[in-house]
Amino acid sequence: MLDYDYDDEAARYDESRGGLPRARAAAEAVAGLLPRRTRTLVDLACGTGIVGGCLREAGYTVLGVDLSAGMLHQAAGRLDAAVRADARALPLAPGSAEAVTAVWLLNLVDDAAPFVAEVARVLRPGGLFVTTVDKSAAHARGSDMDALLDPYRPVELPDGAGRVTALAAAHDLRPHGSARFTGHGQGRSPREVAARVREGSQYAAGGEDLARRLEALPRPEEPRPDPTYTLLALRKRNRG
Ligand SMILES: C[S@@+](CC[C@H](N)C(=O)[O-])C[C@H]1O[C@@H](n2cnc3c(N)ncnc32)[C@H](O)[C@@H]1O
Repeated sequence: MLDYDYDDEAARYDESRGGLPRARAAAEAVAGLLPRRTRTLVDLACGTGIVGGCLREAGYTVLGVDLSAGMLHQAAGRLDAAVRADARALPLAPGSAEAVTAVWLLNLVDDAAPFVAEVARVLRPGGLFVTTVDKSAAHARGSDMDALLDPYRPVELPDGAGRVTALAAAHDLRPHGSARFTGHGQGRSPREVAARVREGSQYAAGGEDLARRLEALPRPEEPRPDPTYTLLALRKRNRG
């Protein structure tokens, strides 16, 4: 189950994650990786359905899956269907899904292995899994916070591209391209990052010393440039 309860922030989730500009950028990047013939997709961790809704507008039939009833409540009407389920135990038959997407899911979990295994189970041969990877690495890149944060960036994370690719290979899912999208509205100020360091949710090893050095940067209240996130596409091998 989730360590963090998205029910509590469901009503303000969209505005705090860059709203439609971020969702459209993510959806366009996902769509750009899907084969032209793709008609239906399963959106794992669909949340409020803001990304899946953009994919639906682009012509796909979208089934959303999420654990949070509050997030699913927001998703109602945006997707063709939205069901409450754990992405590690999907209510789908083996080999039934044309494509599966997961935007900002694997960065939240302790272990990506059961998620990748479940996606591999439901994907049909030739089907595509498109997932964000390396989420935290996208933050503060190219800004003056970069050098301060670099020593405290975790080396191996559950959503690391290398880790996800290796897990996928064990289930006959092979890399099939990648794409990037801008996290509109996700640029953080040094003061915001310092607060996360102090609460221990990010770069915790840096402690008070890192928090103070962040706050000592010029214009500590000013958000730095929006991050660029990475999507990885993995294709299930055709039989035979
Ligand atoms: C950061 S939000 C991302 C929502 C959406 N993909 C987006 O990009 O706006 C993460 C979502 O993952 C969902 N989630 C976390 N663990 C899950 C799991 N094991 N199965 C299904 N959903 C999960 C949460 O409830 C939350 O809605």
